[in-house]
Amino acid sequence: MSAVSPDALIASTAPEAADATPVHFVGPDAALDGAARDWAARLGFKGKPGEVLVVPAGSGGGVDRVLVGTGKTFDPMSARALSARLPEGLYRLEAEEADAGAATLAFLLGRYVFDRYKPGKGRSGVRLVAPQGFDVAEALNIAAACALAREMVDTPPADMGPLQMETIAREIAGAHGAAITVTTGEALLEENYPAVHAVGRAAAPHRAPRVIEIGWNLDRIDRPLIALVGKGVAFDSGGLDIKSAAGMRNMKKDMGGAAHALALGRLVMQAGLDIRLVVLVAAVENAISADAFRPGDVLNSRKGLTIEIGNTDAEGRLILADVLTRAGEHAPDLTLDYATLTGAARVALGPELPPLYTDDEALAADLLAAAHAVRDPLWRMPLWPGYRAAIDSDIADVRNDSAGWAQGGSITAALFLQKFAPATGAWAHLDVFAWNSRGRPGWPEGGEAQGLRAAYAMLKARYPG
Ligand code: BES
Ligand code: MN
Ligand code: ZN
Repeated sequence: MSAVSPDALIASTAPEAADATPVHFVGPDAALDGAARDWAARLGFKGKPGEVLVVPAGSGGGVDRVLVGTGKTFDPMSARALSARLPEGLYRLEAEEADAGAATLAFLLGRYVFDRYKPGKGRSGVRLVAPQGFDVAEALNIAAACALAREMVDTPPADMGPLQMETIAREIAGAHGAAITVTTGEALLEENYPAVHAVGRAAAPHRAPRVIEIGWNLDRIDRPLIALVGKGVAFDSGGLDIKSAAGMRNMKKDMGGAAHALALGRLVMQAGLDIRLVVLVAAVENAISADAFRPGDVLNSRKGLTIEIGNTDAEGRLILADVLTRAGEHAPDLTLDYATLTGAARVALGPELPPLYTDDEALAADLLAAAHAVRDPLWRMPLWPGYRAAIDSDIADVRNDSAGWAQGGSITAALFLQKFAPATGAWAHLDVFAWNSRGRPGWPEGGEAQGLRAAYAMLKARYPG
């Protein structure tokens, strides 16, 4: 799935690179020279974000250069829109080295189109010459990781069930010589994943719940072990506590956490980072049947903690409880989990700023610094101990919904996960939305990778290959 076509980017040393049209990023106060200035005045180009001005070369019909408006400050991420905004052709970006590099990666991210059911949709003939010294292979891998996560999210639930997640995981493991184990259906009970089984058992047999575990370099015990964990709810109907029509409409994206964990895992393996890696995905469908788990049930968990079900729609934390416990059995040095866990995260920070939870100060600092550097934002939220009492249960060790007084639903969900997080090493949880709600050039409405490039940059800085 989702190969990023590498021909959109050519090396600066390629012969045709000499014929590329320059792209200048221009703000409202830029001093333009002669022909460009007159042309800009004639066509009302002001250097605002989203404006594009093609400056002709003489009268022969050729193009001298293209001006792209930036507004007051140039954000290289705006280059995500270039595929859609520029006329077909080969270009080179005129910007400082760091900005040109960031903009080139942004251009690649902006080329993603979900055309599985409409082949050829939105195909673009815009190509770029990579800046000098730019690591083309790495950028293509990063863009491909983001595209994989987005494509998995965009794929309808009928075509992206637990089995399809398993198939993608097997492809990734196979391509990198990693081991993979998949525990499915009734075997989840024998192998002690009771919460994953309970949440997923209402699904049709061909969509049976499963735990997918990839292990890479596990014999290299001199290296630190990193665990990546993902929520893979192929479709979240809410279960017996059924969602409203509007609330259910986009719940194909509820496997976004699994998509992020798998895509980041692949990127780490491609880069050959100096770590051991475990990727753990709980893949289920939160369906409704006579055998569905119920509000009022008490589930067991792999850790042995009993969980009272207050709401079957708080299913993500249940399946994550078991796979976080499993991650802990590897005694990881670092565990990152991705999950489309709560609607409350979006209420708190909006859809474009994922909450980051961790009690490890060094990890928070490194992740936030990386997020800033690669323009893949995260915002730290507190694992506030004062709200722990909101997930107490009278009849079990913990409950899966939280008492109304605490509000802060993204926080109380994170506090629930914290009870199951590995005892060794640091743990961080990203409550991602995994979706662009407003479509605009370069950011089509649909699946989005969030906190993936940030985590990769953090891992690469800590454990260079
Ligand atoms: N998958 C949803 C969370 C979600 C909803 C993410 C909308 C993004 C957009 C999750 O399983 C869920 O339903 N959470 C409930 C929890 C509640 C029942 C305690 C929620 O957030 O409303
Ligand atoms: Mn739910
Ligand atoms: Zn869910």
